[in-house]
Amino acid sequence: MSRLAGKTAFVSGGAKGLGAEMARAMHEEGANVMVTDVLEDKGIELADAHENMQFMAHDVTDEAQWQAAIDATVKTFGGLDVLVNNAGIVHDSTPLEDTTLEQWRHVTAIDLDGVFLGAKYGVRAMKEKGGSIINVSSIYGIVGSVAQAPYHAAKGGVRLLTKAMAVEMGGLGYKIRVNSIHPGFVGTDILRDGIRSAVEMGAMDGENEAIEALTLGTPAGRLGVPRDIANGIVFLASDESEWMTGAELVIDGGFTAQ
Ligand SMILES: NC(=O)c1ccc[n+]([C@@H]2O[C@H](COP(=O)([O-])OP(=O)(O)OC[C@H]3O[C@@H](n4cnc5c(N)ncnc54)[C@H](O)[C@@H]3O)[C@@H](O)[C@H]2O)c1
Repeated sequence: MSRLAGKTAFVSGGAKGLGAEMARAMHEEGANVMVTDVLEDKGIELADAHENMQFMAHDVTDEAQWQAAIDATVKTFGGLDVLVNNAGIVHDSTPLEDTTLEQWRHVTAIDLDGVFLGAKYGVRAMKEKGGSIINVSSIYGIVGSVAQAPYHAAKGGVRLLTKAMAVEMGGLGYKIRVNSIHPGFVGTDILRDGIRSAVEMGAMDGENEAIEALTLGTPAGRLGVPRDIANGIVFLASDESEWMTGAELVIDGGFTAQ
C-alpha cells in the first residue's frame, strides 16, 4: 500500500461522499492528505481519524481561500503533488426556460469557477516540481439529461478546461499532468439531491423508481460505490498514469457506452 508514498494530495469537497473516499484511498496508499470543505464538522472528524490527514475549512468559490488552502498544504506537508478538484453541487432540477440566472451562477460558481481557481493555485504550487491535477467532471459532462442544464454546462466546461490545461502545461514545459474523471451514478448525497428535485418537478416517478431506472440503465447492473471512483483517483494520482494527460477517465458501469 505505497503507490503514493511521499506524495501530498489535496481534495476539495472531501468531508463526505466521493471526496472522503478519495482522501481515504490516497491515504491508504501512503499520501499525506489535505481535505477541504465547507462542512467543518465532518471534515474534522475525517481528518482526526487519520494520521497525516488535515482538514481546512474552504469555500471553492473564494479565490483568497484557495490561495490560503494551497499555501497551508505546502507549509504543513512540504509540497503539493496531487490536486483533486472534487467539490460540487447539483442543480435544483428546473427546465431551462424557468432556470434563473441566480441558479445558473450558483451551480457554475462551485462546479466550474471553483475548478478554475483550484487549477490556478495548484499550478502555481506545482510548476517547479510537477504533479497531477484531477478534475472531477461527470458523465453529465459528456451527455445531457432533463432539467440539469447548469450542471451539464459546468461539468462539460471542466472536461475541456482539463484538456486546455494539459496542452498548456506541456507547452510551458511544466511537468504537470491534468486529467478529468467522469463518475456515473454513485449513491451519495448529490445523487439523492438530484433525484429528489427531479421527482419534485415530475421528471421522475418516485425516489425508489428512479434508483431502479438508473440501475437498469447501467450495463454493469448496479450503481457505483465511492470506492469505484476513488480507485480511479489513486491511479491518476500515482506515477502509474505518468503518460496520461488531457484524458477522460470514465467510471460509469457502462452508462455512456450506450
Ligand atoms: N455521486 C455521483 O453520482 C456523481 C456522479 C458524477 C459526478 N459526481 C461529482 O463528484 C463530486 C463529489 O460529489 P459527491 O457524489 O461526493 O456528492 P456530495 O454531495 O456527497 O459531496 C460534495 C461535497 O462538496 C462540498 N461542497 C459543496 N459546495 C462547496 C463549496 N462551495 N466549497 C467547498 N466544498 C463544497 C460538499 O460540502 C460535499 O462535502 C462532485 O463534483 C459531483 O458533481 C458525483
